[in-house]
Amino acid sequence: MSIKEIAGEQGQENNFLLESLEMSEKKSSPAPGKISYEPQTMLSFEEVKKLDEKYILDTYSRMPVCFAYGSGEFLYDEKGTEYIDFLSGIAVTALGHAHADLVETLLHQADLIWHSSNLFYNQQQALLARALIEISFPGKVFFANSGAEANEAAIKFIRSYGLEKNKSKIIALKNGFHGRTFGAMSVTGQKKIHDGFGPLLENITFIEPNDIKSLEAALSDDTAGLIMEPVLGEGGIIPLTREFLQKSRELCYKHKALLVFDEIQTGMGRTGNYFAWQEFNIAPDVMTLAKGLGGGFPIGAMVVAEKYKDVFHSGMHGSTFGGNHLAAAIGYEVIRLIEYHKILENVRTMGSHLMEKLWTLKDKYPDKVVEVRGKGLLVGLVLKEGIQARPLVQKALEKHLVIGRAAENVLRFAPPLILREKTMDKAFTKIEELVKEI
Ligand SMILES: Cc1ncc(COP(=O)(O)O)c(C=O)c1O
Repeated sequence: MSIKEIAGEQGQENNFLLESLEMSEKKSSPAPGKISYEPQTMLSFEEVKKLDEKYILDTYSRMPVCFAYGSGEFLYDEKGTEYIDFLSGIAVTALGHAHADLVETLLHQADLIWHSSNLFYNQQQALLARALIEISFPGKVFFANSGAEANEAAIKFIRSYGLEKNKSKIIALKNGFHGRTFGAMSVTGQKKIHDGFGPLLENITFIEPNDIKSLEAALSDDTAGLIMEPVLGEGGIIPLTREFLQKSRELCYKHKALLVFDEIQTGMGRTGNYFAWQEFNIAPDVMTLAKGLGGGFPIGAMVVAEKYKDVFHSGMHGSTFGGNHLAAAIGYEVIRLIEYHKILENVRTMGSHLMEKLWTLKDKYPDKVVEVRGKGLLVGLVLKEGIQARPLVQKALEKHLVIGRAAENVLRFAPPLILREKTMDKAFTKIEELVKEI
């Protein structure tokens, strides 16, 4: 069948089938039913960019690379050029790319059942919920598809809990980040995220991270909940202190407010424990997860402590896809692999080596590097004020190193948790070059 027959009416220049088929006809297509990573079967970067610019809403400012495949700690573009992945899709692909056991789980589950909805019982979901409880605290789980959705659930949970006590105030942190949906955006302490959308949720108070005086002043009997990231991610890789976390716990108990930890970026082993709060053994009442939980497959979750399990009851919240068979099977396998391969130990070892190495840059380039912050394999290199991180992220890409930024002047490193020493050394050499060239 010709392209035009497939595409329908003749002369439809804008027909997507026509365009895409014309493009793919220029390539030798992979055999039907086979996945091929051969560069000649892929669109060129320019072709992808053209389609993207024409058809995708302009909400991101993209870096000029299109990754075609990945393996472990490495990513490859359509020409097969290798990049060290020191970002993991923003702290998502915790076990690296195309992990054989995850691929096998995905294919096996795909053969059985993908989706049946939350109208029915779901073995994979039940097993994943049990695993999450076993690695966190006694309680129950709600499944969603993303971080923002997990936080939406948590915000509704706080509101529902507060309503019974006639209170609705939520406290959150300045520079905190919780997602882009209306609720999650409302508790995000960054003006640039709020701007342009009109009224947000009411009765949210923002306080400075690690400022115990502000915390004491803000948290009272009219507070329904306190939501925060144990290490602020987007806000600049700022770990909360033990004292601040302890005081938060104490005051939430005292004033009967829910303590919610957004562990979406810090969770699932990223900081060297399953969850960042475990370092200090200061458990929240509610915890939200996403990112690393699916190792790259979309899934989110809210875990609530046993004591609060009845705040939500049937019909109060829901999600069509949340924790579907595929997502939950993969989430379970992610946890199994973290256990089996002792990934948390690797994160602690590699994390402290990485920090040590990065600190040497402060000694060598004191006019450029201010400090190194973070926990485990969530690390920020803080540059002198005025040095913009964004152009450096692009420069790193030119050196075939994928990194991110957090705040204006912080380079963010979030390599896969399976990181090996030799890959870290290679990445560090590139990071040092980058700093030297500023
Ligand atoms: C701490 C934190 N919470 C929530 C989110 C939102 O997650 P998602 O983008 O999956 O909605 C993010 C995303 O970066 C995050 O870092």
